[in-house]
Amino acid sequence: MGTRINDMVEYQPVDGNNMGKVRQLNSVLFPVRYSGPFYRGLLLPGQFAQVAVYGNSTYVGTIACRKQALGFVTEPLAASRCNGNGSEMLEVYMMTLGVLAPYRRLGIGRQLLAHAIEFAAQDPKVHRVVLHVQIDNDDALRFYHKHGFSTQRMVERYYKNIDPPHAYLLEYRLK
Ligand code: ACO
Repeated sequence: MGTRINDMVEYQPVDGNNMGKVRQLNSVLFPVRYSGPFYRGLLLPGQFAQVAVYGNSTYVGTIACRKQALGFVTEPLAASRCNGNGSEMLEVYMMTLGVLAPYRRLGIGRQLLAHAIEFAAQDPKVHRVVLHVQIDNDDALRFYHKHGFSTQRMVERYYKNIDPPHAYLLEYRLK
C-alpha cells in the first residue's frame, strides 16, 4: 500500500520558532502584505494558527483565524458595542489559508480547514466561521463551497491595493 499524503504532513501550532516560515509562506501565497501586528497577533489567546510541514522540514501550508464578536465582519462598531459583558456570541474570522502550489489537491488545505472548524466548534459561543475571498479566486471559492461554506454577498472595494478590489463574504454556520 502506498504512503498516504497525510502520513507525510505534520500540523504544528505557530510559535516563535516557525513564525519566519509563516511570513515566507504568506508572502508567496497571498497578494495582501501582512505586517508586524498581524504576526504578533497570531500568538495571542483567541487566535488559531498552524503550519503544515511536509516530510519533517518543508513548510507547505498555513492557516490563521481569530475569534471576534458575532457580526464584527460586517458591522465592527455595532458588534463591539453589543459585546464585552462576557456572555457574548462570537464568530471565527479566517484571515489566511494557503498551500504552496506544488502541494495542492493533496488534502492539506482540507485538513487545515478541518482544524480551524474544530477550533471554532469547541467554543459554544461561536456561531459561525466567516472569511473574505477575492472575487476572481475560483480555486478558493470551489474549495470553500465544497466544504460547506456559502457566499453571503459581495463586498465592493474590500481590498485597498489589489485588483480586483472586490471580495465575497463566505460563511460556514455552526449553529
Ligand atoms: N478546483 C476545484 N476544486 C477544488 C480546488 C480547485 N482548484 N481546490 C480544492 N478543491 C476542492 C476539491 O473538491 C478537493 O478535493 P479533490 O482534490 O479530492 O477533488 C477539495 O477541495 C480539497 O482540496 P485540498 O487538496 O484539501 O485543497 P488544497 O490543499 O489544494 O488547498 C487552497 C486549497 C487553500 C484554496 C489552495 O488552492 C490555495 O492555497 N490557494 C492559494 C491561496 C488562497 O487563495 N487561499 C484562500 C484565500 S481566502 C483566505 O485566505 C481566507
